[in-house]
Amino acid sequence: MKKRIIIGISGASGVIYGIRALQHLAEMDTIESHLIISDGAALNIAVETDFKVADVKAMADVVHSNDNLAAGIASGSYRADAMAVVPCSIKTLSGIANSYADNLLVRAADVTLKERRPLILMVRETPLHKGHLELMTRAADYGAVILPPVPAFYQQPASVTEIVDQSVGKLFDCLDIEHDLMRRWGGKKTKPTSSGQ
Ligand SMILES: Cc1cc2nc3c(=O)[nH]c(=O)nc-3n(C[C@H](O)[C@H](O)[C@H](O)COP(=O)(O)O)c2cc1C
Repeated sequence: MKKRIIIGISGASGVIYGIRALQHLAEMDTIESHLIISDGAALNIAVETDFKVADVKAMADVVHSNDNLAAGIASGSYRADAMAVVPCSIKTLSGIANSYADNLLVRAADVTLKERRPLILMVRETPLHKGHLELMTRAADYGAVILPPVPAFYQQPASVTEIVDQSVGKLFDCLDIEHDLMRRWGGKKTKPTSSGQ
């Protein structure tokens, strides 16, 4: 059975992280990806990338409307393995930390926590006030992994794609997904192809 991974893309800057994660997952025949795109994310896909929202949706095995609170992934009885919110806005972080599940993305994340499955939040905002920090603390207390997209310059990245893929590699580590997106300390560097695919 394939590993079912839910990817939520919210409206923080850095939607490319979610897109790259989907592109890599699509190349793995062991993964079934489920995608939720918030309205804020759809806006940022247009602002920050050359992709159309339809292009991003085509990368996933299953696409869910953020309004569809009757989707399978809204229920704990539906077998999913893990979820990542990539990137995670402060608004969506707040929804998750407070179980304010008025859209599918937040509901699926809340279900992931209550079922004690891995939930990875790539929270992106800067600078952070204490309220943001407290929301992250609360989500972490409930079991989420807070994984901000922070570059590791010891990797000597040669392109934005390499910087993005390094954080996607950290995400895949948290999801227990095999990859070669980054050089491990003491290991061999693996370069992405020049097309960035
Ligand atoms: C270009 C752009 C960049 C943004 N970057 C961030 C960000 O980095 N972090 C954040 O928390 N919100 C950011 N926002 C604001 C969110 O998109 C906004 O709070 C939205 O309501 C989030 O909704 P969502 O979490 O349902 O997608 C940004 C908005 C725009 C238009």
